[in-house]
Amino acid sequence: MAREEKRRPSASNTFKLWLVALIFFLTFFHLYAINRYPQTKVVSNEVLLGLVLVLVGYLWVQELRDRERLQAINQALIKAQRQLEQAELATITTLVLTEEAKDPYVRGHSRRVTRCAIGIAEELGLKERERKIIERAGILHDIGKVGISDAILHKPDKLNNEEWAIIKKHPQRGAEILEPLQFLKEEKEMIRHHHERIDGRGYPDGLKGGEIPLGARILAVADTFDAMNSERSYRKPLPEDVIISELKNACGSQLDPRIVTAFLDLLKKKPSLWERN
Ligand SMILES: [Fe+2]
Repeated sequence: MAREEKRRPSASNTFKLWLVALIFFLTFFHLYAINRYPQTKVVSNEVLLGLVLVLVGYLWVQELRDRERLQAINQALIKAQRQLEQAELATITTLVLTEEAKDPYVRGHSRRVTRCAIGIAEELGLKERERKIIERAGILHDIGKVGISDAILHKPDKLNNEEWAIIKKHPQRGAEILEPLQFLKEEKEMIRHHHERIDGRGYPDGLKGGEIPLGARILAVADTFDAMNSERSYRKPLPEDVIISELKNACGSQLDPRIVTAFLDLLKKKPSLWERN
């Protein structure tokens, strides 16, 4: 009942304008009467003042009610927008994970990359908001592979130059697929640049060092680790000591040394990150 009361619209703007006009009219009429008939008291000052105060007070209350109503509508809109964003995100995530599940060699890859990337972000002391962005970017980082033919994605042999060129477009395609989703602005940047290299020899834009968004550099370490720690059609997962050595070797060329160091520390603290399920 109380909620219904709140929703009831206040006085219309036309009615309020009429009231303002009435206040002006009363005031000018009173001033005119004083000047024109100084000896005759048409309306006493007290009565006029009281009337004007009542009208102004009424308008003020209406404005407060309007403001409260607008705030309630605004909050409801923000809530609805968040729910819509969550629904869009859940749909896209399902699409990525379903696509991934078709290939036994990459099944679970996005979740594992995300798990490692969040761990690195915590290790680097990033804030909750940044960790959330990295989490979403991690789950969606390979969304650009959706639409690439299974013949290329699941090819057991080495890819030829043409096929490799198609695969290399996936970071850019991923950012393009997500382009309509305004709320994923920073995630899109991370997705676009997760295959850049510190030395500038990566793709798609050849960014180097600090030009590459921090989240993308974190994803690159997590992605590289999971690729080496996963089975492929042509090889078993690499041994742990080889993976650690490869990560160290990639410092300063492919990967950001500060992030690799943080990740190697994390692996010591959380050996469960080696698990592939
Ligand atoms: Fe990728």
